[in-house]
Amino acid sequence: MAVAPESVPRHIAIVMDGNGRWASKRFLPRIAGHKQGVEVLKRTVRACVLRGVQVLTVFAFSSENWKRPADEVSGLMEILVVALSRELNQLKKEGVHLQFIGERESLSERVRNSLLEAERETADNRKLILNVCFNYGGRWDVVQAAQALAAAGLPITEESLARNLATAAVGDPDLIVRTGGEMRLSNFLLWQAAYSELYFSHVLWPEFDDAALDGAIQAYATRERRYGMTSQQLPGTSHTAT
Ligand code: IPE
Ligand code: IPE
Ligand code: MG
Repeated sequence: MAVAPESVPRHIAIVMDGNGRWASKRFLPRIAGHKQGVEVLKRTVRACVLRGVQVLTVFAFSSENWKRPADEVSGLMEILVVALSRELNQLKKEGVHLQFIGERESLSERVRNSLLEAERETADNRKLILNVCFNYGGRWDVVQAAQALAAAGLPITEESLARNLATAAVGDPDLIVRTGGEMRLSNFLLWQAAYSELYFSHVLWPEFDDAALDGAIQAYATRERRYGMTSQQLPGTSHTAT
């Protein structure tokens, strides 16, 4: 079942969860699941471009993931740096504009430099914005926005705070997908999720294929986004699947 182009979410956000369980099921180290997760992210980026999604925001490392065993944390840092150097040319060819969202000071200089290089090299790309949330937490985001306003002596309002969030340039996600079966946000985009449609999939992230993505987009297309209004107040039927 195809979804009408106007019913495809402009901005999809994904909590890419389930890498560790995928690896454990195969008697592999957890890090093998994270590596497979990168492959699936590459495929998902391509699928989103083909479906006309404009912004893809993915949760790659949370503020709380530092609590994991040291070798898993360092493995995740290594995977990020290696994946960026390996995939940068392809991402450029595909027209992907990479942006990293999260607290950077706690990252090593090597990691920080590779993020900066990827952002610089893809800055002119216009097909899809790929926001990678790395060392990101929704609470951190709200606090850093409030601190920026306080430091500038500006009033804190819903509008001014939203303008200072790490995602200000891309707006709120229309659809938030979480793979791996858990039904929680785990500190992802707390403010921005206020009116996002939520979709929870049991599929582990390393197995999340185009059909699974289409399932999420189709579910989104059937939702009625009322924003507090009644059905009767809404214009047209822009979310009807065809
Ligand atoms: C998500 O997969 C990736 C990160 C949090 C970095 P997990 O590593 O959380 O996988 P599970 O939830 O343990 O299966
Ligand atoms: C959320 O997954 C973070 C990422 C996917 C990067 P977690 O696996 O860290 O979430 P919890 O701990 O199960 O809530
Ligand atoms: Mg997890």
